[in-house]
Amino acid sequence: MTYNETVLDHFANPRNVGEVSSPDGIGRVGNAKCGDIMQITIKVEDNRITHAKFKTFGCAAAIATSSALTEMVIGKTLEEALKISNQDIVNHLGGLPDIKVHCSVLGAEALKKAIENYRSKRLIPSNAVNLRGFAP
Ligand code: FES
Repeated sequence: MTYNETVLDHFANPRNVGEVSSPDGIGRVGNAKCGDIMQITIKVEDNRITHAKFKTFGCAAAIATSSALTEMVIGKTLEEALKISNQDIVNHLGGLPDIKVHCSVLGAEALKKAIENYRSKRLIPSNAVNLRGFAP
């Protein structure tokens, strides 16, 4: 099994490591089989992801795909970001060994959760109007 230069670069020099301050959305996922864990935090402005950072406890492919994902999502609208598949991440890296393609799923799932988390925080409780008798 060999990694290409791009994957090795993202592994050795990961982009956007850490947590954004006061995140608007947080997504955490784990791979039950290998125990790897990934967290992505995002900042959103005008429906667009302005910042994204990751923390991944995992294999080289998980770290490289997390790093690539943050590069891919910054500047995208939430709708565009939700369309990013694990295969898109693999393509962005120029490929992964077949045995490691499953590692890219972590990033795509964590991103989805971070966006869901952001959207859930912005929801107005459905009973707010009924209980108060006026629109919030
Ligand atoms: Fe677990 Fe790569 S081996 S994500």
